[in-house]
Amino acid sequence: MRIAVISDIHGNATAFEAVLEDIDSQQGIEGIYCLGDNIGYGPEPEKVIEMMRMRNIPSVLGNHELAIKQPESLSWFNPTARRSLEKTLTLLSPESKTYIAKLPTYLIVDDCRFVHGFPPDSVTTYLFEINSNGIKYTLDRLEERVVFIGHTHELLIAEYDGTAVISEPLYRGTVQLDPGKKYLINVGSVGQPRDGTNPAKYVIYDDEANELIVRFVPYDIHDTVNKIHQAGLPEQHALRLL
Ligand SMILES: [Fe+2]
Repeated sequence: MRIAVISDIHGNATAFEAVLEDIDSQQGIEGIYCLGDNIGYGPEPEKVIEMMRMRNIPSVLGNHELAIKQPESLSWFNPTARRSLEKTLTLLSPESKTYIAKLPTYLIVDDCRFVHGFPPDSVTTYLFEINSNGIKYTLDRLEERVVFIGHTHELLIAEYDGTAVISEPLYRGTVQLDPGKKYLINVGSVGQPRDGTNPAKYVIYDDEANELIVRFVPYDIHDTVNKIHQAGLPEQHALRLL
């Protein structure tokens, strides 16, 4: 199985288009899986959802989708994120809201689990809130060998050999995985990276080659910035992309 895993598109359709083009240019990708937060912050949430549905990309629920599904959870967000979510609500069609409301909190495919925040199924927990004992405890109780998460918009790999957890940042390029270890992989963000570099990020996982490939994809950031301005979204969301 050779799959692409994407996360945190955040209404940035320009970045998403560039990532899909990059995925389509790769050899032998059998599926694309998405870790949620497809909307919020960015200017084109409706277009992103339409693209997801057109390409039949399975997605889990992110905390921004949760806010659309349960508007009372808007109070958890900081005022700027809340303002953009309120705007996002006005940009989504009823069909897209229904689609969002039906997203599952986790997905399992073969030996992989997909969840937005932290396994087994948390939409809101950040990886940095959990220490290595917590990661160990969780991975011990999961049947799947590889867990993909998003939510932090950062790139990280935690490997577990049954004794200790070692966490390291992930960079562009290929990581050889050990078939005898379990992994928790934070895949970064397509539409609003927070890893200190501005290209869109996603990963390719190959369970036969036991390989993880981290892709950095340049896209027209100024196009997204202009659209954020045109939509009247908070300036911070534009500045964060530059
Ligand atoms: Fe996010």
